[in-house]
Amino acid sequence: MLLRSHTCGQLRHDHVGQVIRLNGWVNSYRDHGNLIFIDLRDRFGITQLVFDPDDGVPASLMEQADKLRNEDVIAIEGKVRARIGGENPKLATGKVEIVVTSLQVLNKTANPPFLPEDPTADGKITLANEELRLTHRYIDLRRPSMQRILGLRHKLYQTTRRYFDENGFLEIETPVLYKSTPEGAREFLVPSRHVAGTFYALPQSPQLFKQILMVSGCDRYMQICRCFRDEDPRADRQSEFTQIDLEMSFVRRDQIMDMMEGFVRRLWKDLAGVDVPPIQRMDYRTAMEDYGIDRPDTRYDLRIKDISDFASKLDFGVFKSVLEKGKDRPRFYSKKGVVKALRVPGGADKLTRKITDGYTEFVKGFGAGGVAVVKVIKGDDGAPKLDTGIAKFLEPLKAEFLQLLGCQIGDTVLFVADTYSIATKAIGELRQKVARDMGIVPKPGAEGGPWNFLWVVDFPMFEKNKDTGKWVAMHHPFTSPRDDQMQAFLNADVDDEVTIEGIVSAGYDIVLNGQEIAGGSVRIHDQAVQSKVFRLLGLTPEQAKEKFSFLLEALSFGAPPHAGIAFGLDRLVMNFVGTDNIRDVIAFPKTQVGSDLMTKAPSHVPAAQLKDVHVQSIAQQP
Ligand code: AMO
Repeated sequence: MLLRSHTCGQLRHDHVGQVIRLNGWVNSYRDHGNLIFIDLRDRFGITQLVFDPDDGVPASLMEQADKLRNEDVIAIEGKVRARIGGENPKLATGKVEIVVTSLQVLNKTANPPFLPEDPTADGKITLANEELRLTHRYIDLRRPSMQRILGLRHKLYQTTRRYFDENGFLEIETPVLYKSTPEGAREFLVPSRHVAGTFYALPQSPQLFKQILMVSGCDRYMQICRCFRDEDPRADRQSEFTQIDLEMSFVRRDQIMDMMEGFVRRLWKDLAGVDVPPIQRMDYRTAMEDYGIDRPDTRYDLRIKDISDFASKLDFGVFKSVLEKGKDRPRFYSKKGVVKALRVPGGADKLTRKITDGYTEFVKGFGAGGVAVVKVIKGDDGAPKLDTGIAKFLEPLKAEFLQLLGCQIGDTVLFVADTYSIATKAIGELRQKVARDMGIVPKPGAEGGPWNFLWVVDFPMFEKNKDTGKWVAMHHPFTSPRDDQMQAFLNADVDDEVTIEGIVSAGYDIVLNGQEIAGGSVRIHDQAVQSKVFRLLGLTPEQAKEKFSFLLEALSFGAPPHAGIAFGLDRLVMNFVGTDNIRDVIAFPKTQVGSDLMTKAPSHVPAAQLKDVHVQSIAQQP
């Protein structure tokens, strides 16, 4: 074989005159009468080859070249010459071409189902459909943009390892065959062959191992690890994904947040050349009140306002009946009825009746009854006038309403009335939809738009699961109450719903342009506190012992105060690439139903194999 002397991205004008060898794939083939041009591609770039009889290329070689087709794998030897007149400024190698003197076909390709070409702005080249591309991922990954993404991901691993190494973190691997732990999502189970009827679970994250490593005296831990959650994959969620997982001993919230902010700054500098300013903090309640979501997209300034007090003065049955709900509950209790409003500047023109009618259907998806609308238009006297929707109900208190929301002529105001939880969620989602409809969402940072980072802090420790009515940990059950809340938590009676709902945790998330890119917390390092959390979550002491005896025991043997966080690595890459499809940034991703189209996983297995692991399937075999 003609082994390569250079890569296809390497040759420059300085190489003119040299005899070189290249290996790669035929990217394109152009026959110009008696001249044949081939673009040869490898991971590093593209180089133009020319088969030119005028340069003494024998007829036999021309014949060989004539048979080449896209995606054949070849090796060539030839001489570098300057491209005269035909330079290609888009290619790094565009100043030269290779006059081929010998050619070896290393592997002839079958007819490819699609070509690994990136789509062009003029629409002349479009992407093959995703199913086909995932089925033949090895062809799809040859696309220059996919190679770039894999390269960027690699760089992200290196920067990460360098930063945490510099800061004294140890990279430690934790098991993938693990024990079932309650972190929220459904788990993937692996049956044990040795002990009939028992199962491992694949880790949703290495949470407990990293905490145990702190008890083990490792002080600072990092791992780039695979996590498994049997939930439905979505645009930014995979059932198998990668975290940058971290834990530190002898720190409180501010120290770990500073360390992680330093990491974010280093990443953005190294990968995007961007200087990230100090990251602002927003507490959870503000996020929920103003944005209706715990990961606010602050790139556009649409704010939600709770107008319950004002709404209670209106003679409007829908608002009145909602506000009656949960009256006996304290201010933030999730079941309390509220009326929330979203002022949309310029909405009167842009949000047509058809669009706002659609909003009712939209919020029904989040359990709300509908959306009330009013427009602020210019009256005959030039003053603001309330129009359409619920205008007549607002009219008696028009001046107060306009002032309360700071309305201007041209605004539309949208209202959702329901219990606190439902109204907040529905209007938070609606806010994002309205921003898209209004065309006010900036481009992603990777495309030149802003990078809006935010720490969200002071989450409640617990929330009620709306189906079971039981308390669940908002982050995970190993999260500590904030230092100043510890005593209140320890004193609280398990049945005291009001106090429990008000306990604030020492958790923190990093949100970037409305997406959660990292989440973590100061951990509980005191066995009594951990036991109380388990009790609140409805675990009996026996159940807690059965599931977590290793943790509770470890906490009793000299556990240092510790805190940690995990970044969603795939989401970081998505941001650097500027894609909203997580599958674009993973070499071998899974589809919406969790299958790998290339290997056809998951698959049926022979009955004998099931028997080996003491499992009987109740599914119909094909
Ligand atoms: P959490 O569950 O918040 O925390 O996960 C941390 C980060 O991982 C990313 N992420 C995902 N990315 C892709 N697909 C998914 N299905 C997915 N789920 C989560 C998100 C998220 O912010 N053990 C804790 C961390 C800790 O407390 O230290 C944990 O796993 O970007």
